[in-house]
Amino acid sequence: MSLLEQVTEAFERFFGGAPALVVRAPGRVNLIGEHTDYNDGFVLPMAINRATWIALRPRSDGRVRGFSLEFNDWADFALDGLEKNPANWAEYVKGVAWALMEAGYQLTGWDGVIAGDVPIGAGLSSSAALELATARAFAATSGLAWDAAAMAKLGQKAENQWVGMNCGIMDQMISAAGRAGHALLIDCRSLAAEAVPLPPDTLVVVLDTATRRGLVDSAYNERRAQCEAAARFFGVPALRDVTPEQFQARAGELDDLTRRRARHVITENERTLQAAEAMRRGDAAALGALMDASHVSMRDDFEISRDEMNTMVELAQAHPASYGARMTGGGFGGCAVALVRAAAVGAFVTILGERYRQATGLTPAIYVCEATNGAEVFPA
Ligand code: GLA
Repeated sequence: MSLLEQVTEAFERFFGGAPALVVRAPGRVNLIGEHTDYNDGFVLPMAINRATWIALRPRSDGRVRGFSLEFNDWADFALDGLEKNPANWAEYVKGVAWALMEAGYQLTGWDGVIAGDVPIGAGLSSSAALELATARAFAATSGLAWDAAAMAKLGQKAENQWVGMNCGIMDQMISAAGRAGHALLIDCRSLAAEAVPLPPDTLVVVLDTATRRGLVDSAYNERRAQCEAAARFFGVPALRDVTPEQFQARAGELDDLTRRRARHVITENERTLQAAEAMRRGDAAALGALMDASHVSMRDDFEISRDEMNTMVELAQAHPASYGARMTGGGFGGCAVALVRAAAVGAFVTILGERYRQATGLTPAIYVCEATNGAEVFPA
């Protein structure tokens, strides 16, 4: 049964009668442009065919009652008395309601059933998918216009200020605004987004290393602080404003750590712009080479990779069907992404699974991804 059928069927069971509508918002994989979003820079993610779905029907009493099939648990709250609880999945729903109301929107509540197949904690943005599905649900019940960038910002605000994770804008933007068959080049300062097509005869493969790291938040916040310190040194609002030439001219004045952190962000912005250019030309080889270079920069300068991840990336790069591979997402575990010749993807998946298991003793999850649309609403 598809997730659309599952949420629809479960809605009928829980609430009696058919849902009024179904919404969907996807997870994402970032092709290139890592830790650039909070430096006002460029990212190049695509929305994937793994998503959060909600079947719902408006209620007139200002309540939200949502059942999650994944967590086997209810989110049940009144819109006029929102209270923060320790982080759990329902706080993302509540946090989005809070952010929308803070922005001045009048909300209509709903009954809903929620289900998703974005793996949780793997670095594929299951939280952004839940946030944007929730925003899409409220937009539909409350008659709000769907402005993807504005909704993405409110999803980010929910995550930053309600849930307490200090993420950038990338995950919410791509979940809100993704385009089928395309990645989006997003300028994280202006939030302008350009859809660029995936190179012909290629597929994007996500390779989950089956490693996770706790304390990700502290390492993430530490990187942010290091980038802000580097921007202050250059006297600019964000590292986005430092050109490679300006960096070269003054790099010697920086301490080694700050220099490497800044070099990652500044070169990654360049690579991301070049990657979009390669995609416009349909040049898979050039895109792949930029992905490889991005991995080296994350590994050596930004220091957000780990041994198992490096093994996975090297195995992927060594396969003849691969154009390029890198770690994707926040870092310290989670997933790699590879650009692979479509005709050979079956062999690539089998061999990568075997070789990674042999090398590490871990069993990877491997997803061949399609680029999908961002948050959508379907009449039920
Ligand atoms: C996480 C954050 C994003 C972004 C990436 C790194 O996914 O949620 O905002 O900073 O890390 O590129």
